[in-house]
Amino acid sequence: MAQHDRILIIDFGSQLTQLIARRLREAGVYCEIWPYHAAQEARIRAFGPRGIILSGGPASVTEGESPRAPDAVFTMGLPVLGICYGQQTMCAQLGGRVEAGHHREFGRAFVEVIGECALFAGVWPRGAREQVWMSHGDRVTALPPGFRAVAATEGAPFAAIADDERRFYGVQFHPEVVHTPHGAALLRNFALAICGCRGDWTMGAYRAEAVARIRDQVGRGRVVCGLSGGVDSAVTAVLVHEAVGDQLTCIYVDHGLMRAGETEQVLRTFRDRFNIRLVHRDASDRFLAALAGVTDPEAKRKTIGRLFIEVFEEEQAKLGGAEFLAQGTLYPDVIESVSATGGPSATIKSHHNVGGLPEGMRLQLVEPLRELFKDEVRALGRELGLPEEIVGRHPFPGPGLAIRIPGEVTREKADLLRQVDRIFLEEIRAAGLYDAIWQAFAVLLPVRTVGVMGDGRSYDHACALRAVTSTDGMTADVYPFDMGFLTRVAGRIVNEVRGINRVTYDITSKPPGTIEWE
Ligand code: XMP
Repeated sequence: MAQHDRILIIDFGSQLTQLIARRLREAGVYCEIWPYHAAQEARIRAFGPRGIILSGGPASVTEGESPRAPDAVFTMGLPVLGICYGQQTMCAQLGGRVEAGHHREFGRAFVEVIGECALFAGVWPRGAREQVWMSHGDRVTALPPGFRAVAATEGAPFAAIADDERRFYGVQFHPEVVHTPHGAALLRNFALAICGCRGDWTMGAYRAEAVARIRDQVGRGRVVCGLSGGVDSAVTAVLVHEAVGDQLTCIYVDHGLMRAGETEQVLRTFRDRFNIRLVHRDASDRFLAALAGVTDPEAKRKTIGRLFIEVFEEEQAKLGGAEFLAQGTLYPDVIESVSATGGPSATIKSHHNVGGLPEGMRLQLVEPLRELFKDEVRALGRELGLPEEIVGRHPFPGPGLAIRIPGEVTREKADLLRQVDRIFLEEIRAAGLYDAIWQAFAVLLPVRTVGVMGDGRSYDHACALRAVTSTDGMTADVYPFDMGFLTRVAGRIVNEVRGINRVTYDITSKPPGTIEWE
């Protein structure tokens, strides 16, 4: 199998490290993120990168115990780019000086390009004034031997530095964020021009290689895959099906808490269009019975998660067993993270989807998306011919509508909420706003309010609408609909959905709110 040129990103704990990887991959370069303490020389050699990037991080080089890049990084003859903390530790380790900052710089700044270098080639001419994004307290105050300054700001005379002979570069600013408008081009220069990567890591190539890898792993074995209708499991299923055909059976556990039309869409897409063997198990009675009287959000999640595994195992047993379980685990789920203090304790995030690995099942995992970010999974889905309505779908939580019905969940409430949700999403689509929004949904409130209907008085449920923008779900802003849109949606809901007589719009950002209500 073709080996793609690759870059190693050594992580010192910056929140922005994943963005470095995204920018490189957009340039067609495969890369991995490793915590600094896991980057031993032998492991680096085995990985075989064409260059190394040292990320930013929260620590201060001037403090005794702060993390360092392994010495091998500077002796392997590979190009190195240090970003922010990465630049500072590179300078400190190679004989320069770093001082704790009295010149803190945060946010937008302008650098003056004072020298030419391969990093800037074709992007920033000498003499230009360019916008960058800064976030640092410490700064480099003396360069190591061999380096020269190529860009400066008022606060940072060594905002960008270069040692062309060794191909070592450092930037005090963050080229990975969009607020450094030419940052992606600088990273591309590093990966392609300086490191010599070919930039041939495309989704087409990934598809072919993933298919070969799955065939290799699975052989003649049987694979099961829990389909949820979400992007990750959908792309996993179609990819595994392309690799091993009918050796794959998908199991769709219907908990009765999906949105309007969702189950039909899953059956249509996977069974009819892709000819994938698909077991549809309607277990809604069982889920709703188990949820009776449960009002605590975490208890709802646990109940649904436990039952999901039970039902999945039953269906899997009916199939006569399998050796492999295909799962849509993504790269952000498996990146080892550096703890916020920069200490050596590594944690691995757990997958919090319903449908996580049933523990007692003893199946080997097939995880063909383990190397991909979400937007890459979407690109792969398009490459595989999945319809846009699945590939571009908003995230939907595993426990489904259960966590959008504060209080006890019943079938009647779920039916009511489905109708409200459908109208809201229909209007969002009709207004062309779907793709501009990260998530949009309705919540059925556990209060009844008084209204007037014709000549009579009504006493019905109130609902809330929620729509947010976000890049990763960690923070979110309220979507600023115009009032005309909101009143139109509210009008349709109270007119078309019997049982709802009041509509509110949730205008809380995250933090302090969360996206879901529970
Ligand atoms: P919050 O509500 O924590 O949500 O701001 C952040 C993102 O996570 C989704 N979410 C879940 N997804 N199981 C899931 O699979 C869950 O229990 C769960 N809770 C929240 C939420 O929809 C949003 O995208």
